[in-house]
Amino acid sequence: MTDNRKPKQALARRSFLQSASALTAGTAGVVAGAKSALAASADPAITELKDWNQYLGYGVDAQGYGVPSSFEDKTIRRWVPWLTASAESSVNFSPLYDLTGFVTPNGLHFERHHGGIAEINPAEHRLMIHGMVEKELVFTMDDIKRMPSESHFYFTECAANSGMEWRGAQLNSCQFTYGMVSTAQWTGVPLKWLLEYAGVKDGAKWILAEGADASGMTRTIPIEKARDDVLVAFAQNGEAIRPEQGYPLRLVVPGFEGNMSIKWLRRIELGDAPYMTREETSKYTDLLEDGRARMFTWVQEAKSVITNPCPERPVNGQGHYKIQGLAWTGHGKIKRVDVSTDGGKNWQTARLHEPVLSKCMTRFEIPWEYKGGDALLVSRAMDETGYVQPSMSELQAVRGVNSIYHNNAMQTWLVNPSGEVENVRLG
Ligand code: CO
Repeated sequence: MTDNRKPKQALARRSFLQSASALTAGTAGVVAGAKSALAASADPAITELKDWNQYLGYGVDAQGYGVPSSFEDKTIRRWVPWLTASAESSVNFSPLYDLTGFVTPNGLHFERHHGGIAEINPAEHRLMIHGMVEKELVFTMDDIKRMPSESHFYFTECAANSGMEWRGAQLNSCQFTYGMVSTAQWTGVPLKWLLEYAGVKDGAKWILAEGADASGMTRTIPIEKARDDVLVAFAQNGEAIRPEQGYPLRLVVPGFEGNMSIKWLRRIELGDAPYMTREETSKYTDLLEDGRARMFTWVQEAKSVITNPCPERPVNGQGHYKIQGLAWTGHGKIKRVDVSTDGGKNWQTARLHEPVLSKCMTRFEIPWEYKGGDALLVSRAMDETGYVQPSMSELQAVRGVNSIYHNNAMQTWLVNPSGEVENVRLG
């Protein structure tokens, strides 16, 4: 950055103080926990001139691509080095407690790679469609971008999100237990239009999607889903997809486990049977109590988590707070979220932030007065099909404890008298 700051005249101090006190008077009555206007008048943050009041800031030429304030440098993705064998086949978790609304900024979207982040020159990237089609097709990126497109907000959740927690509370962290879910506005060409263009042959029941990364990630998707809402996406939140999210082209399979949204998409093959790839036989299956494994469990069912407070965002003394969190379901829209502060004995219905979109994260919020002592914070999501998020004991009655994937049980945070928040399992 170039430092082009120059001294400038002090601000008109009188008008600044007048507008500041007017603001305080107007909001003091509604902001629970705010300092009184009288106490604030002696606050040096108000009475002392700061550098930024007196000197010019950086010019518009200081940075071509904007970055967050340096005061926000703790809002980052984090990984757990011991969790995986290498950084190239690993997970980077999103800091859910620092986000607002339902959009995940592109630099904070969780990452999951199986062969590192492929760095692809878009001029050398192709998408091939072949197999049981009338005409086999190869698209350049220019071809894809010239076609009609759509934009949709969808959540993406790794099937292994919360996967450590089956046998009891493990990691004392919202980021590491829930941070493998994110939401973006994806822009691309609906896959059904590409399939229509190629002409699907009678008897084609499945597609195979393949990535161009070093792992050659492949998954099978039923033709009904491929002809429904799957996107072949080239943009994420208004800009090109980030390299770690599959630049320049990826599949977005709304509501299904994240692994199926193949990144760095290079090939789609149509066939009459599932392809039984490693990632749907050895991995991404759910081992049951009797030793059998469930396969092709695709939909991420209704789930929710309280993101504030949480272990990383403790409570600072008694008083007024809001409990906030996120809910999502692969079956459509979130219909209702209930919150309990006593471990599920009593429930209140939270307010949902608009808009509530299908297969998208929904933010919920409820006011809370912390009166000290222990509090057990739980959230419970319901979706538009009537499905209710289960407790862990309800989930284990069906699934046992051998699973890694598809843990959508209710989460409990214990607020203890010091204000610290712990990940606990209710008996
Ligand atoms: Co599954």
